[in-house]
Amino acid sequence: MEEELQSLRAEAEAALAAVSGPADLEAFRVEYLGRKGRFSGLMRLLGQASTEERPRLGKLANEVKAVVEGLFNARKEELEGALPAASPVGDLTLPGRRRPAGGIHPVTQVMDEVCAIFVGLGFAVAEGPDVETDFYNFEALNIPPHHPARAMHDTFYVDEGRLLRTHTSPMQIRAMEQASPPLRMIAPGKVYRCDSDITHTPMFHQVEGFMVDRKVSFADLKGVLSVFITRMFDAQTPIRFRPSFFPFTEPSAEVDIGCVICGGKGCRVCKQTGWLEILGAGMIDPAVFAKVGYDAEQYSGFAFGLGIERIAMLRYGIGDIRLFYENDLRFLAQF
Ligand code: FA5
Repeated sequence: MEEELQSLRAEAEAALAAVSGPADLEAFRVEYLGRKGRFSGLMRLLGQASTEERPRLGKLANEVKAVVEGLFNARKEELEGALPAASPVGDLTLPGRRRPAGGIHPVTQVMDEVCAIFVGLGFAVAEGPDVETDFYNFEALNIPPHHPARAMHDTFYVDEGRLLRTHTSPMQIRAMEQASPPLRMIAPGKVYRCDSDITHTPMFHQVEGFMVDRKVSFADLKGVLSVFITRMFDAQTPIRFRPSFFPFTEPSAEVDIGCVICGGKGCRVCKQTGWLEILGAGMIDPAVFAKVGYDAEQYSGFAFGLGIERIAMLRYGIGDIRLFYENDLRFLAQF
């Protein structure tokens, strides 16, 4: 028994030295130190030793087992030390997480497209201030104080005489003050009105367009707008010019497009009419020319103001304009 114990110790030492990884180490533990392992097997043989010999052999067996267990633990620590340390930033072998890529807001996309069409038709681009004076927003556009047309614009006033522009038309005045005809210009930008429902938002975008030269006629206006609409939508889209009124144009018109949401049958968005208004337009009123010192006898011009969100709604078949400004990524990611 004593010899067997010594040779088991030598074998265990050799086996431990040969262990090269956690799997080998576990196999060693089971074979030598496990409940049904070789040490337990020898311990069971102790019962066959004589009563005098049994305490000495038992003590020896325990000592040998303790030595082997010590060697086992030392080897275990050695192997664990050899394993790569866990990374403080997590498992570097995992595949990376994709960062969601941002996109261009659908209103900006449509705005860019609209501007590109007019630039292609030879229009220059100009931008003006969002905080505008009463003079440029109303007075110079032939809307004096207390004129009923002011009621068409639910204005946000900043202070006496200053307001958030309610349309991009003030840019007609700013541009005409600075340059002489001929003039062919668009002015994109944000405008503000105290207005909110499925086709109105308190902040929205317009593109103003105007052209002033000798002999500019309503036919030129119709031509330019028809080219624009057929480029923006497909050639089959129904268009209609409807007589209207703006104090700064005479004659004036509003342009509607067949509602793409219901195919013209009538729905909530087009208020059951089958049409959705996208712009106001007309021939620049001589009273406006007088404000900027242009001679209405020599020059004539047209102007129009497009609602960009309305065009985006028709373009993408969106039934509620407010969706553009809710910042819901599930909505925005579709564009
Ligand atoms: C005007 O703002 C005029 N300045 C347009 C104009 C320019 C007429 C030059 C003549 C000559 P109107 O208030 O109709 O007109 O607005 C123009 C377009 O802006 C509308 O056809 C519509 O498409 C859009 N619009 C108006 N109010 C809102 C709103 N609250 N939310 C979103 N779009 C709007």
